[in-house]
Amino acid sequence: MTEELWSNVERYISDTLVQPDRALDAALAASDAAGLPSINVSPNQGKLLHMLALIAGAQRILEIGTLGGYSTIWLARALLSGGRLITLEADKKHAELARRNIDAAGVGSLVEIQVGSALETLPKIAAASPDPFDLIFIDADKTNTVPYFDWSLKLSRPGSIIVVDNVVRKGAVIDAKSTDKDVQGMRRFYDRLTNEPRVLVTAIQTVGSKGYDGFAIAIVKA
Ligand code: SAH
Ligand code: DHB
Ligand code: MG
Repeated sequence: MTEELWSNVERYISDTLVQPDRALDAALAASDAAGLPSINVSPNQGKLLHMLALIAGAQRILEIGTLGGYSTIWLARALLSGGRLITLEADKKHAELARRNIDAAGVGSLVEIQVGSALETLPKIAAASPDPFDLIFIDADKTNTVPYFDWSLKLSRPGSIIVVDNVVRKGAVIDAKSTDKDVQGMRRFYDRLTNEPRVLVTAIQTVGSKGYDGFAIAIVKA
């Protein structure tokens, strides 16, 4: 089995089950043209995020790691009426392009982009004592996944869903001796989750155009 086969199957899934969408395609094309890395979630993963937000009945969504706003658009489109999404992005250039892509997709009024390192913006969000977020998507620098998860717990409520991307890293996550800082960041995340009584959590491996990786999905318990 090869990445080529996985990508072909992903295309088959997307072609049959994920409706073509001009705004999402345009967001990717603009991101590509601007030289952003194509590390956005794949279309079928974006639709999964969208569906999780629908299942959650999400009115408030927090995303950590915006890039060009591709996953943001998928998530924002699932918001209940009156809902809002806050997305955090460290790179000004990414944030500016995301703003354009999100506005062009027609969900601009639902989305606030906070520019800055998420480790600096998250305490400010918490200090404002917002209503808890119904769904949180963690997809930024992998080394800080543990602090992002801890902030997510503070900003959530029983029943909130926390999704974390890139928890498998081509399988390298099982290598305790890995010298890759992102892998070690994810290993610290698994350690952090072990025996964490406040969440119900599992992880799913993903393959396809974005390589071999995975999603962790947690439900915050009472
Ligand atoms: N969620 C996006 C992909 C995000 S890629 C999608 O699926 O479409 C990861 C993003 O996290 C990049 O844009 C990167 O600039 C941003 N990032 C990296 N370190 C960060 C930090 N400390 N705080 C906030 N964002 C960060
Ligand atoms: C990288 C980041 C991601 O969020 C992703 O999904 C894939 C790769 C990266 O930084 O290499
Ligand atoms: Mg990712």
